[in-house]
Amino acid sequence: MIIVIDFGAQYAHLIARRIRQLGVRSEILHWTASLEEIRKLQPEGIILSGGPRSVYEKGAPTISREVLKMGVPVMGICYGHQLIARLTGSRVVSSSKEYGKETMLCDNKSPLFKGMMRTEQVWMSHGDSVTELADGFRNIGSTPECKIAAYENEEEKLYGVQFHPEVQHTLHGMAILDNFLSICRAERSYTLKNLDSRLVDEAKGILGREGVIMAVSGGVDSLVAATILKKATANLHLVFVDNGLLRKNEALYVQGMIKELGFENFHFVDASELFLKRLKGIAEPEQKRKVIGKAFIDVFESKVSELKKKGISISFLGQGTIYPDRIESAQPSKTASVIKTHHNVGGLPEKMRLKLIEPLRDLYKDEVRELGKLLGIKGEFLDRHPFPGPGLAVRVLGEVTAEKLAMLREADAIFIDELKKSGYYSKTWQAFAALLPAKSVGVMGDERTYGYIIALRAVTSQDAMTADWARLPHDLLESAASRIVRKAKGVNRVLYDITQKPPATIEYE
Ligand code: XMP
Repeated sequence: MIIVIDFGAQYAHLIARRIRQLGVRSEILHWTASLEEIRKLQPEGIILSGGPRSVYEKGAPTISREVLKMGVPVMGICYGHQLIARLTGSRVVSSSKEYGKETMLCDNKSPLFKGMMRTEQVWMSHGDSVTELADGFRNIGSTPECKIAAYENEEEKLYGVQFHPEVQHTLHGMAILDNFLSICRAERSYTLKNLDSRLVDEAKGILGREGVIMAVSGGVDSLVAATILKKATANLHLVFVDNGLLRKNEALYVQGMIKELGFENFHFVDASELFLKRLKGIAEPEQKRKVIGKAFIDVFESKVSELKKKGISISFLGQGTIYPDRIESAQPSKTASVIKTHHNVGGLPEKMRLKLIEPLRDLYKDEVRELGKLLGIKGEFLDRHPFPGPGLAVRVLGEVTAEKLAMLREADAIFIDELKKSGYYSKTWQAFAALLPAKSVGVMGDERTYGYIIALRAVTSQDAMTADWARLPHDLLESAASRIVRKAKGVNRVLYDITQKPPATIEYE
């Protein structure tokens, strides 16, 4: 097992996922984790992630030197590379910024670069550099701007790379990580084989004969988690709340899906009026999220008490929480995680005196999809784009009204239809329409119109942390735009969003 120590990197989870893809278990620990916590996991190797700070700044994240002396290989990536250097007496200084693809001259005699070419494409993103190495360290890679882009200390089994082997732009990054795993002699026993039966057995052990209730959102995580629970107990109750903020035909679609998958005890709650009433007059995004979260809890709680009154015994709350939801990134700027407000109902289990069961708590999204396949769930259900818990409320910018929701639903359905018809739905991470809080002038027939503007957004991404706008064919966009202005009454203009994340986010609010 490999521990990834997170120094606030955007990519700490990506590193951990890559290690698992190479067949080795991985866990993330925050940089404040104690030596005991690290030792307890009995790592075969440790990776120190990147991070946004400078190692020489006062109060910068660090680790005890003892971590480097635990007798297992340690590799630093970016900030981690600089940190090992600093802790062992090498020199780290502020340098000119290097960002993007670079060519590295590499010493493929190092075990870390075994099988590499003499020149390799690597991906850099840094403002500090290691400029001098302490005794025992050897320079094994350099780019035109960065003389020490990689180093090794064979005796102490310490390695550092200034670039990011975990991102695709480092063409042989996976091979470098693989080499590090070989240096660690890490056990390659991590597999998803039989994961379905392992998780079902585990859930059986936890639940016994007790009843479990779970909210499903129509998304992949809650669906796969519910399927595990269904196989573990006959005492599963599913609740689906229509909050009035769903996409066109979504409530019907989810009901069909649940039926097709053979779930019993399914409770559909139409709470759309309540949500819309509570959202009246609210334009601020975080306020919307709070109101929606609270309304969801109220509706869910009252459903549970209703079932309990009917004599149904429920002692567990099932949730589709996955590993990145649980292990918050150490990014200093990141405030409390708002992801999954829809079904990750914070505080609810204690309040309702329910015990928590989260069958997917240790898995990444790609692993959840694989698991879904093992469980026999069809691709159409597993490959659905992510949809935010607060739903269309964060895609109607400003105050949410029934009229605006209707326009947005129509526009969104048309866009998704065009994407599916052309095969682009599966090539994008997420795609949707948003309704801008502004009107513009147009002309239809001989009439002047004054209508709303729809923005279309389609992005490609690996994990939603960064995203690029999807290069959709012009014909597809034109066909979507002309259908939208014809069918979505009140809309007279359509824009396509070409902003990346960062600096923009995927959603508009
Ligand atoms: P952003 O907009 O931050 O979104 O780039 C990243 C991913 O998270 C989803 N998202 C949410 N999901 N509740 C959720 O369940 C939320 O409040 C929320 N906000 C954003 C978004 O759809 C994208 O996949």
